[in-house]
Amino acid sequence: MAKQSDIVKEVKLLKNENRILLTELEEAYKNMEMILVQTEREKEITYRELEQKYRTLQKIYTELSRKENMLIHMEKLSSIGQFIAEIVHELKNPLTVIGAAADIALLEDLPNETKNVLNKIPEQVNRMQALLGRFKAMAYKEKEKFEPIDINTTLKNFIETIELIAPKSIDIIFELSNEKMIVKGDLYQLVQIYLNLAKNAFDLLDEKIDAKLTISTKLLSRAKAKKNQSKFYCQKPDTWKNILRAHENFALIEFADNGPGIPEEHMHFLFDTFFTTKERSKGTGLGLAISQDIAIKHNANIIFNSEPNQGTTVQIYVPIIKNDLDKKS
Ligand SMILES: Nc1ncnc2c1ncn2[C@@H]1O[C@H](COP(=O)(O)OP(=O)(O)OP(=O)(O)O)[C@@H](O)[C@H]1O
Ligand SMILES: [Mg+2]
Repeated sequence: MAKQSDIVKEVKLLKNENRILLTELEEAYKNMEMILVQTEREKEITYRELEQKYRTLQKIYTELSRKENMLIHMEKLSSIGQFIAEIVHELKNPLTVIGAAADIALLEDLPNETKNVLNKIPEQVNRMQALLGRFKAMAYKEKEKFEPIDINTTLKNFIETIELIAPKSIDIIFELSNEKMIVKGDLYQLVQIYLNLAKNAFDLLDEKIDAKLTISTKLLSRAKAKKNQSKFYCQKPDTWKNILRAHENFALIEFADNGPGIPEEHMHFLFDTFFTTKERSKGTGLGLAISQDIAIKHNANIIFNSEPNQGTTVQIYVPIIKNDLDKKS
């Protein structure tokens, strides 16, 4: 029979072994827990990374489909442009013939009354030819060209053209600043924004009595440009802050209409591709999305101020380039 002291020794040994085992087990458990936590963490990290990648992919996909739609729209515009260019070409030739015929007829000995009438023809022919030239320039542009542009001159050209296509029931008022405002931009693209904004106003003012669209320009200091409180604009807030910080002066082009206004719940979607409240035949929801793209290329911003029944004011801010600032100071 084993001695008691031996048993005590053995129990002690066993206890010791047990303790060692327990510690080992505890350690193993801790390790396992750590591994588990680690893998959980790793899993979480991988999951987050995957989620991020998914979101990026989704963004790229949305951006790609947006670009694709725009390309389709641009292509349509460009074939319309080509069509206009052809019509302009076809009209220019007979106009030259009419002008020349009037010149020849004026050489004849004719009664004064007839001569007075004939005298008006070359002048009108010149006017029409100049107008057709502008139509062609507006409708058909091959290549993007960023150059110094005088904002008021671009608007004056635009105004003459827009008057021809505006519904007669709408009173269009122009208030152009006397200041010279030189910006860096692509004339054709800037006019595209004007056209989109004017068309939006026309679409909604068409049936209204006393319909009015006021188009104005103004030179604004950075401080004044900053004061605009509307949160509905096409630039990203941080980018817009940086642009404001980087430029001293801005050209402000404003389109103010007394149309139905825009409900707040629509204001968030104005620049979204295909956002439209118009019936299919009237709007595609691309006008402002395209204008946003152009504005971003120009470091410009398009800001909406509107309330239902209060009309809509759309402001375009374009930074004035350094040259002009130097001249001013
Ligand atoms: N001046 C405005 N007054 C009231 N609502 C406006 C005005 N401008 C834009 N909107 C609203 O914003 C929407 C989007 O305008 P956007 O120019 O992008 O597309 P659209 O005019 O509907 O179609 P598209 O320009 O392709 O012909 C319009 O459908 C309209 O609801
Ligand atoms: Mg539109």
